[in-house]
Amino acid sequence: MLQKDVSALRAAYESARDESDSFERFNRAQGMGSIRDPYPGIALLRAAAPVHRIDLGAAPRDAHVPPSLRAARWIYTVVTYDAVEEVLRDAARFSSAFYAESMGAVMGHTILEMDGQEHVRHRALLSRAFTRRAVERWERELVRPTIEAYVGAFAESGQADLVRQLTFPFPVRVIAGMMGLPRETHAEFHRLAVELISVSIDWECGIRASRALRELFAPVVAARRRAPQDDLISVLAHAQIGGTRLRDEEIYAFLCLLAPAGAETTYRSSSNLLYGLLTHPDQLDAVRRDRRLIPQAIEEGLRWECPLLGIMRLATCDAEIGGVPIPKGSVVSLNLGAANRDPARWPDPDRFDVFRAQRPHIAFAIGTHVCLGMHLARMETRVLLETLFDRLPNLHLDPDARDVHVTGLIFRSPQSLPVRFDGVPQA
Ligand code: HEM
Repeated sequence: MLQKDVSALRAAYESARDESDSFERFNRAQGMGSIRDPYPGIALLRAAAPVHRIDLGAAPRDAHVPPSLRAARWIYTVVTYDAVEEVLRDAARFSSAFYAESMGAVMGHTILEMDGQEHVRHRALLSRAFTRRAVERWERELVRPTIEAYVGAFAESGQADLVRQLTFPFPVRVIAGMMGLPRETHAEFHRLAVELISVSIDWECGIRASRALRELFAPVVAARRRAPQDDLISVLAHAQIGGTRLRDEEIYAFLCLLAPAGAETTYRSSSNLLYGLLTHPDQLDAVRRDRRLIPQAIEEGLRWECPLLGIMRLATCDAEIGGVPIPKGSVVSLNLGAANRDPARWPDPDRFDVFRAQRPHIAFAIGTHVCLGMHLARMETRVLLETLFDRLPNLHLDPDARDVHVTGLIFRSPQSLPVRFDGVPQA
């Protein structure tokens, strides 16, 4: 987070408090609609130094602010690729325990906040459900039919808002389906997942959502303990660590993490890629004509408009990154978006270019906590593009649409993507 962003985000939080729609409120608090392009400011900072000490001010803070931030005067923001990578690869000096103070209150003790061997043991339980191989099965059985159903619902109409009608709803249906939640609970699950991570804006609402999610999970966990099926809840219900099965609370924590992790990021990353392609029609045409370009288009979309910019760590000892001393106990914010646009790694980094020489980006982080769902997210986005190319000939941005753009500071994506295409009746 940058110095001027501290006040911009405070204003965004304040304006979000009065919003009654859970999804809109979360978006507003991320700076969506108020913060359009943080990248010019980031570029200035990055040119000055890899790490910046941001003054949080001395004003008293809300009782629900995480303790290590409540007392802190400074937060350390890391903005170059090399420095972000250095922090992420050094889990001993930069712990994930910060999340225990923030998300832990509503999610429970998740792998996101674990360090060391505890993290390795717990992550291993879930990882087999997210390997490339496992993902092939989810593609066939769940992802393709889900995306085809959403696209099929508007394919004949000749126009659509791809955010509202596709990228926003589909990833949450996928993760709910993978978990094995009954279909009639999916809409409620989506709302609760967003309310859960809105805990920093509205503490009571986050706690209520956390309880409601546990009530939604409980009967399914009990049923799968009795009779396992081919889904994630069954995997967790029968997983063991050191010969002991996971307790219900441990299973709920896994599920609470997967809900926003699987839905919020994929919805935004696929929207950002579509925005990049629709606003660069020559590149859209090239990818449509040669689908072998889809994987590199997906990586460029993730690099160029990273859906989740800010992740956090806690310094476990006095450390130094990029020549800047970071005292023990400091909160460190890693700006993945800034790292992904580092000109030392990518020439002309603000340009969306699916043809640029590929170098690994850091949108999924790196190191021990690298995103568990990255193969799933990539596959979902590939299937999305394939389905759009198959079903919506002549897809282009609606020429009457005004000022379509990506917005936000912590999460970023367009709020709508109005498109037109040749509506073809279903065969
Ligand atoms: C484009 C979409 C996605 C992006 C950009 C993304 C990004 C990230 C990032 C940056 C982290 C590291 C967080 C940290 O260490 O502080 C992470 C972790 C994680 N992601 Fe994703 N994610 C995406 C999709 C998904 C999906 C689809 C799932 C699962 C359904 C998922 C599940 C997870 C889990 C479980 C973790 C925690 C891993 C750990 O702590 O060991 N993510 N993700």
